[in-house]
Amino acid sequence: MSRLELGVCYYPEQWDAAQWRDDAARMVDMGLDWVRIAEFTWGLIEPARGQFDWGWLDQVVDILGQAGLRVMMSTPTAAPPKWLIDEYPEILPVGPDGQVRGFGSRRHYCFSSDVYLDEARRIATEYARRYGQNPHVCAWQIDNEYNDHDTVLSYSDAARQGFRRWLADRYGTIDELNRIWGTVFWGSIYTSFDQIELPNNLVASPNPTQALDFARYSSDRVRLFNRAQVDILRALSPGRDITHNFMAGSFEFDHHAVAADLDIVGFDSYPLGNLLGSALSEKDKRRYLRTGAPDYQGFHCDLYRSQGKGRMWVLEQQPGPVDWAEKNPSPLDGMVRLWTWAAYAHGAQAVMFFRWRQAAFAQEQFHTALLRSDGSLDQAALELAQVALEREALPSVIRTRAQVAMMLDYESLWAADILPHDDAFPNAQILRGWYTGLRSLGIDLDFVGPDDDLSGYALIVLPQCMIALAALAAKLQDSGAKLLIGARAGSKTADMHTPPNLAPGELASLAGVRVTRVESLPELAGESVRLGDGKTHSFTGWREVIETDNAVTGRFVSVYRDGSPAIVRSERATYLAMVPRDALLRDILVEALEWAGIRVTDCGPDLRITRRGGLGFAFNFGDIAQAVPNGGGQNYLVGTSEIPPYGIAIWREKAAH
Ligand code: GAL
Repeated sequence: MSRLELGVCYYPEQWDAAQWRDDAARMVDMGLDWVRIAEFTWGLIEPARGQFDWGWLDQVVDILGQAGLRVMMSTPTAAPPKWLIDEYPEILPVGPDGQVRGFGSRRHYCFSSDVYLDEARRIATEYARRYGQNPHVCAWQIDNEYNDHDTVLSYSDAARQGFRRWLADRYGTIDELNRIWGTVFWGSIYTSFDQIELPNNLVASPNPTQALDFARYSSDRVRLFNRAQVDILRALSPGRDITHNFMAGSFEFDHHAVAADLDIVGFDSYPLGNLLGSALSEKDKRRYLRTGAPDYQGFHCDLYRSQGKGRMWVLEQQPGPVDWAEKNPSPLDGMVRLWTWAAYAHGAQAVMFFRWRQAAFAQEQFHTALLRSDGSLDQAALELAQVALEREALPSVIRTRAQVAMMLDYESLWAADILPHDDAFPNAQILRGWYTGLRSLGIDLDFVGPDDDLSGYALIVLPQCMIALAALAAKLQDSGAKLLIGARAGSKTADMHTPPNLAPGELASLAGVRVTRVESLPELAGESVRLGDGKTHSFTGWREVIETDNAVTGRFVSVYRDGSPAIVRSERATYLAMVPRDALLRDILVEALEWAGIRVTDCGPDLRITRRGGLGFAFNFGDIAQAVPNGGGQNYLVGTSEIPPYGIAIWREKAAH
């Protein structure tokens, strides 16, 4: 499937049945191919244990299918019914404050509850038996947004028991756990696995290995939960694709691992909803208030496309103002179209809009949709109609492997949150910063995890890879790629210990450095790095003292160890002894790209260009028109070489046929 497919999230249960047929006809007229339904319907389908009311959902599937729409059915486990919670209150999740999180909204379950796992299997089996072979049901979504409302980590009794079992499996004996956790420190010795508690509500910081193990355990529970439903759907609904909707900016469980069990990696795209709470500067938040950050869509699409091995769908696309951020501005007219094409350009096979009609009651009344609650067309519907027309002009193309890959290792992100050293350590934000730096230089990239195939890349960047195991070091070595390695890489072992040879541990021979001290500097007292060409740029935060015999291409300017190495280059790797941002980051990236033989196109802050197969795409997030770089003689399929504010252009690349 390489033509853009369009879809919508539909909640027929919230509307009069008399309206369903008309809704379906209008969806088809609008150019929609897919309808995603039923992710919150458990309480309606099974109003009391063992009593099922399928009639209405059967009818919905029938109406949609007969209208020519393909149905993505969902398992409803994101919202267990009240009777089930009353029967087994231990299903409820517990927050880090130790408070039980109650019934009345959604995601009120704990991944550690084996009772809930069994119930989830039971209801998924019922849905799969009912619709698994239905000709209109062509794909499945499992559950809904695993970490929504911060529900991956739960501090319940079930979690405590599960964690103890998981630790017993991992360590075998309590002595081994004591050794690896280093419980001799502060005398926290355990004599049995039954003594282990969860790492919340403590007086001071928890043992870091314990905290990392709890993150691993919690992530494993998500994978187990997802996998349990995958297995049921594979058996009862053969031939249908299975997906889950990952969230943007969510790193709380290992998405590489969960993705490996899915056919399609889905994600939910809310470019404005996620803007104000992001780590962007105030200036950028103002600048992109109504457009979303230029790299929001690209970052998540590239990440989830890579995890989906090319199969990625946007399962919820923001249609207008949402209702859940601290403030909820409207996108500018044209942005829904732009986001949709940006998703396609970055590899999406389908884009589904959230939602069909704006709710007139209950929680999300202020959340816009394709239609207003009275059924009239809202702006997103007009833009969707435009996209539906524009796609007719495009040939079918797929996105090919990029020259540059970015390493994203979830354990490294958890590790830096657990032992930050710098209370403002940007951690996951470092990935977004490097991504933006590369994209503003016109670079297309893939994401890779430590277990992925690394061959064929000219440059692999490792912005934050705090835990780098020997196997990864060997793969990086074998890949033949040039490496750009960020500070802190390899600084902890899998056990959260300092490596015997000091940081960067397993990466030492590739990077050719030894880190002898780390410090962190406050915003009020930044320092500078002088590059080889004499340019000096400031930085704050993390700084390392390193020893090296390799070429030093940047040095610190400071009252402390003035002139010590800040950037070191060996034959294969460039190592950074600080966390660069802004101009420093940009210069480092330009240099690294040139070193790896990759051509750079300066796009500036607001313009983004990318390629999908033989098609080129440009997106203008700014308020003045922009020219497609070197775009004069292209064959334009949408737009022209002059891209209006908030506009797009799509062309056939010269080499393509
Ligand atoms: C998503 C969620 C949807 C809906 C949407 C509103 O996080 O998956 O069910 O609540 O937000 O923007």
